[in-house]
Amino acid sequence: ILCDIGFIGLGVMGKNLVLNLADNGYNIAAFDLSDEKVQAVIAQDEHENTTSTPRVYGCSSYTELLSQLKAPHLIVLSVPAGAPVDQVCENLIGAGIQPDDIIIDTGNSLWVDTVAREEKYKSNFLLFSSAVSGGEVGARFGPSLMPSGSPYAWARVKPIWEAISAKVDVVTGKPIERNKPGQIIEDGEPCAAYIGPAGAGHYVKMVHNGIEYADMQIICEAYHVLRSGLGLSCDEIADIFETWNNGLLDSYLMEISVEVLRHKTSDTETPLVDLILDKAGQKGTGLWTAMSSLEVGCPAPTIAQAVYARSISSFKELRKQASVDLSGPSNVPVSESESLAIIEQLHDAIYCAKICAYAQGFQLMKLAAKEHGWALDFASIAKIWRAGCIIRAIFLQSITDAFERNEKLDNLLLDKFFAKQLSERQDNWRKSICFATMKGIPTGALSSALAYYDSMRSAVLPANLLQGQRDFFGAHTFERVDKPAGKKFHVEWSTLDREMKLIDD
Ligand code: 6PG
Repeated sequence: ILCDIGFIGLGVMGKNLVLNLADNGYNIAAFDLSDEKVQAVIAQDEHENTTSTPRVYGCSSYTELLSQLKAPHLIVLSVPAGAPVDQVCENLIGAGIQPDDIIIDTGNSLWVDTVAREEKYKSNFLLFSSAVSGGEVGARFGPSLMPSGSPYAWARVKPIWEAISAKVDVVTGKPIERNKPGQIIEDGEPCAAYIGPAGAGHYVKMVHNGIEYADMQIICEAYHVLRSGLGLSCDEIADIFETWNNGLLDSYLMEISVEVLRHKTSDTETPLVDLILDKAGQKGTGLWTAMSSLEVGCPAPTIAQAVYARSISSFKELRKQASVDLSGPSNVPVSESESLAIIEQLHDAIYCAKICAYAQGFQLMKLAAKEHGWALDFASIAKIWRAGCIIRAIFLQSITDAFERNEKLDNLLLDKFFAKQLSERQDNWRKSICFATMKGIPTGALSSALAYYDSMRSAVLPANLLQGQRDFFGAHTFERVDKPAGKKFHVEWSTLDREMKLIDD
């Protein structure tokens, strides 16, 4: 029998997506350059398969893969972003792929590459893309999927994607648990929704990752304050995070932080985090988000700050030297009751900074969508992030509600629910940052979010002086608050009388 789907790239994500597809009743022809990986997925499938027929067929070449598929062929790629995607596309052309065949790129491709590839290969095959979030467990038991590209391809992919994606309970908005091989979830809202034309899905996934960077950094800063500012142990911090994870801050990233903090190596009682080198890695999607925010002209300082925090962490040797050469503040003792208040304040600081990070990400998507002509549905994007993905959190339901109240919302800060939350919690947020600052603990993400909030709520900013400076040294002109908009003025700064002139365009 011919298979329903071809699959190329059997790394951790690929292998688990194959098993997820198989659980949902699809037969897979699987190929990887490493035969070992092909054998591994077959072995895993044999181990998990409860039916009498094999679900995964291993292939040893691109040609064999195509020959094992129903036509028109549907092929899923799970290969690293960049050159490997083109390499596989070229190999499939060599193997005889047809113009009505569909290739789905599930990697973290840069969105402009996806746009260019769709155009480049349009006479050879239909390139569809669908970013996947959720890591290896998500891939196995239900990821969040961000498909985009040809609507014709989507019509074919939709039932498959809706079947394998994470599901959300229609009433509670919470993820429906699925964690066993063979288990499938037939009800609930799928975390897979069509995003838009080529590139849109990868753009949205890129912003998801930018938010992921900010979310992670915010939690890490809170850990830093609790550890270095209050001198709490990893277990004590895990207890606090666990409590927070039962309320407004309920999220996957908070949940895994608890697990990481509690973990001790088997041969010592030392918490693992104390043994992990404090140098953060990054594959680039956070950086792309920050770069895009600068290009689009949409402030995303908390996301950018999270990228900077990873960069600064990588200067380990320099920091070690500077820790000897540069002094910090004198020690401020903290009483037990102050300590309890600080913990409470920190909870609100995390929540407020999180709102700002998401506000930045959603506004960035909105402005990028305008620039590229995409009709993004933000309530739908928030919905598919409620389960399966790395930033899944109870909080995403509040964002869904905000965009359902007003689909044209310019910025989440302006939604009445979030505005109220920020207004009620801002004092605690400010106090947390004051405490960290007095202790010399860097809180770039928490503080940049507060500066963002304060800038956004300021009707007047010091850009008036800035415009004066620009006009002084570069005759760049300025507008006046007391004159009609658009009228440009310049002062002859180098003359004695400093005459002001109206400049005609
Ligand atoms: C996801 C993750 C995933 C990947 C990140 C890691 O949504 O499943 O974001 O895509 O783990 O790319 O990124 P860094 O290596 O840059 O932290």
